[in-house]
Amino acid sequence: MQILVLHGPNLNLLGSREPEVYGSQTLAQIDADLAEIAAEAGVALESFQSNHEGALIDRIQAARQDGCRFIIINPAAYTHTSVAIRDALAAVALPFVEVHLSNIHKREAFRQHSYLSPLAEGVICGLGAQGYRLALSYALDKLRRPA
Ligand code: DQA
Repeated sequence: MQILVLHGPNLNLLGSREPEVYGSQTLAQIDADLAEIAAEAGVALESFQSNHEGALIDRIQAARQDGCRFIIINPAAYTHTSVAIRDALAAVALPFVEVHLSNIHKREAFRQHSYLSPLAEGVICGLGAQGYRLALSYALDKLRRPA
């Protein structure tokens, strides 16, 4: 598995959760779309969603051993609270892109700080589900380039 896509809490409810903010696509549709693009490129991609901070941290730690070369993460609300997820990403030292469906900068003040962004290669927000596709396109491009 070369690309790991991580989704944080409440993203399992996409489709029915505040569709005016997060869009109408379900998480299964987003993941299927990403899996198809990666498969066409001949790259193994795995998606993982959890509502639990520790489960996300365990999955990030496992990425160190399972051949993962790039992480795409929407940490959801943990973006704004989780030093522990930031530390896990720093520990595995894998490149990652942070994705948010909504534009967190035009929302409540508490959403405008991310513990992860300073470590991210880039941050995509406000472009809905397309943000994941753009992040994947970047990751595929990066994997194709010699190190
Ligand atoms: C989110 C933005 C976060 O502030 C929020 O807590 C989420 C989703 C987004 O994708 O726009 O759950 O990460």
